[in-house]
Amino acid sequence: MSPHADPTRNRAELGHKLRYAARHPGRIAPHVRRTARDLWLRARHRDHVAYYRAVMASDAARDPRAAVGSRNDERWLALGAMQFDYLLAHGLRPEHRMLEVGCGNLRAGWRFIDHLDSGHYYGIDISPDILVHAKRTLVERGLQAKLPHLTLTDDLTFDFLPDAHFDVVHAHSVFSHSPPGVIDQCLAHVGRVLRPGGWFDFTFDRTEGREHQVLREDFYYRTETLTALAASHGLEAAFMTDWEELPHGQSKIRVTRPATGRTSRTPDRPGVGRPATGHDGPAQADGPDPGHPDG
Ligand SMILES: C[S@@+](CC[C@H](N)C(=O)[O-])C[C@H]1O[C@@H](n2cnc3c(N)ncnc32)[C@H](O)[C@@H]1O
Repeated sequence: MSPHADPTRNRAELGHKLRYAARHPGRIAPHVRRTARDLWLRARHRDHVAYYRAVMASDAARDPRAAVGSRNDERWLALGAMQFDYLLAHGLRPEHRMLEVGCGNLRAGWRFIDHLDSGHYYGIDISPDILVHAKRTLVERGLQAKLPHLTLTDDLTFDFLPDAHFDVVHAHSVFSHSPPGVIDQCLAHVGRVLRPGGWFDFTFDRTEGREHQVLREDFYYRTETLTALAASHGLEAAFMTDWEELPHGQSKIRVTRPATGRTSRTPDRPGVGRPATGHDGPAQADGPDPGHPDG
């Protein structure tokens, strides 16, 4: 059975909220707290990045693992393993250069750093608070010698990164917290930093109904909106059906830069157009919390 909840439901609708509250009374108080925080932070930060940075500061101060969407250590490890195993099955090799957008506290990043050659991992994030925890994860895992790059950013133009450098760009549970302008900016610029044959995978909260958002934290998109946005920037986008089999509430799209006279499904593009593969996904699903979807 699919791990995805009914993709037509609109979490922003009052009816949905009331039905959800009746089923989960214990989650009413946390949701009220989040709503109050949203109002407070909205008033202080007009710009989305500044707003979300403040959300992360607040969440990371309470619990850095919960701040990236995992309720406990077991789930934090499982969600990292799910991302890693998926990319490994899709051809991520040690010599590849990887950019992780919204790397958080290296839930998956430490596994990528461990797997890749020294200096081949580049993690960026808008939150200084979570990057402090990323550094701690690096130390806890004893990965200093791998010399990963961890950089604070305030936009997704990648202007400080070189052309055609990365084989893999990865953004897990970032666009699920991003308004259209942020995604558009990322898609407008990611093609420049991708190597020929490289790919950009991102997850998103999918709706098959009306696009909507819950507070300014969680955004629900139709697949065709995002694939059309990628196409508007000259990129090809494919919905990753094999990701749907995994116990994660979000969906995944893979974006590639078409080479002249070739399509994204030519065989020298690692991982693109492969059939669904077997995965060593975690036994336990990180089930979505309808008040605050799991990351
Ligand atoms: C739910 S967490 C996921 C972190 C990590 N990808 C993982 O799977 O553990 C989302 C992360 O994306 C970061 N983020 C949100 N919007 C961003 C943006 N526009 N650019 C870069 N990072 C962003 C947040 O600060 C946070 O660390």
